[in-house]
Amino acid sequence: MAVRYELLKTEKHTGARRGRLHTPHGVIETPIFMPVGTLATVKTLSPEELKDNGAQIILSNTYHLWLRPGHEIVKEAGGLHKFMNWDRPILTDSGGFQVFSLSDLRKITEEGVQFRNHLSGEKLFLSPEKAIEIENALGADIIMAFDECPPFPADRQYLKNSLERTTRWAKRCKEAHARPHDQALFGIIQGGMDKELRKQSAEELIELDFPGYAVGGLSVGEPKDIMNEVLEFTTPLMPKDKPRYLMGVGSPDDLFEGVERGIDMFDCVLPTRIARNGTCMTSVGKVVIRNATYQRDFGPLDPNCDCYTCKNYSRAYIRHLIKCDEVFGIRLTTIHNVHFLIKLMDDIRKAIEEDRFVELKKSFYESYGYTL
Ligand code: GUN
Ligand code: ZN
Repeated sequence: MAVRYELLKTEKHTGARRGRLHTPHGVIETPIFMPVGTLATVKTLSPEELKDNGAQIILSNTYHLWLRPGHEIVKEAGGLHKFMNWDRPILTDSGGFQVFSLSDLRKITEEGVQFRNHLSGEKLFLSPEKAIEIENALGADIIMAFDECPPFPADRQYLKNSLERTTRWAKRCKEAHARPHDQALFGIIQGGMDKELRKQSAEELIELDFPGYAVGGLSVGEPKDIMNEVLEFTTPLMPKDKPRYLMGVGSPDDLFEGVERGIDMFDCVLPTRIARNGTCMTSVGKVVIRNATYQRDFGPLDPNCDCYTCKNYSRAYIRHLIKCDEVFGIRLTTIHNVHFLIKLMDDIRKAIEEDRFVELKKSFYESYGYTL
C-alpha cells in the first residue's frame, strides 16, 4: 500500500477532519497545504528552506517535467526525489489541467489530447497511458489520474461527456499504473458546477476504488459561493476512509471553507506567485510591499510571524529589494508566504483537535479583513 489514510477525528461542529497520510517518504499531518514546485523547484527556495518552513509535501507537474528536462532524465537521476534533493513526499499532477490551461490548438479525442508544446510549438500527444508512464518515471508518492478540467461555464452535455471520458481515462490510468505498491494513484472528480454530474463522477470513480480522491474543475472562474456549494455537495459523497484533495485552491479563505467541508489536501501557486510581485499574506491582511506607505516602515512584514524574513528584515528593506527587482527580495517574500500558509494549516489542525475550528475561522477572518 503506497498510501494509508488514518482519520484521527472529525471536528465537533463542522465537517473538518484531522488525519494522517502515511507515504513511502514519511507521514503527512492533514489537513495540509502543498507548495507548488512545477519544475522540480518551489521557485526561489531550497529544499532546506522548505523544511525550515514546515513543508511536509510538495506538488510537481508531469507536463512541465515531460517537456523539460524529460522524464527519462529524471528517472536516470534516480527519480524526482533524488533529482531535486527532496526526501519528503511529493505529489505529481497528471498534466490534464496544464494541457488545458497552457497550450492552445488542443484536440480532445477518446484516445487523449493533442496539443502544442507551449514553449516550442511542436505537436504533442498526451494520453492516460502516457501520463502514467511519465508519473511512474518521476516516482512521486502520490500521482494523479489524467483528466479533463472543463472550462467555466460549460453546458451540461459537454460536462457529461467530459466527465464520462474522464472516468474511462481514470480506468485506463489504473490499468497502466506500474507502481501501485509505492505510488498511490488518485482519481479526480469532475462534473463542473452541476450537482447531479458531480454525483455521477464521484460514484463512477469510487467504483474503480482509488486510494484517494480529488475534486477537480473548481476555482476555474466561478464565484466563490458556487465553488463552496459544489464542494459542500461533493465531499459527503467521497469515502470517509480515504484522503480528499481539492486541486488548485489555496487562498486563506478557500482553505478555511474547504477544510470546513471535509477537504484534507490543497495545493496552489498563489503564495509563491504573488510573492514574486511583492504581495504578502500576513496576520493583519494582505500587504502590497511596493506601496509607498512602507517606505519608512522599519517593522517586520508580519508582526505575528516568526519566519526567517520577519525575524530579520523590515518592510522598508523588503520594499526596496522588490522595487529594485533584487532576487533576494522575492526569496524573502516567498519564504514568508509559504511559511504563512503552512503555519495557518498548523493552526487549523490544532483548532480541529480542540473543536474550536469556527472560533479560529472567525478570528482569522476578522484580522485578515475577510467578511464571514
Ligand atoms: N489543478 C487544478 N484543477 C485541476 C483539475 O481539475 N485537474 C487536474 N489534473 N489538475 C488540476
Ligand atoms: Zn514571516
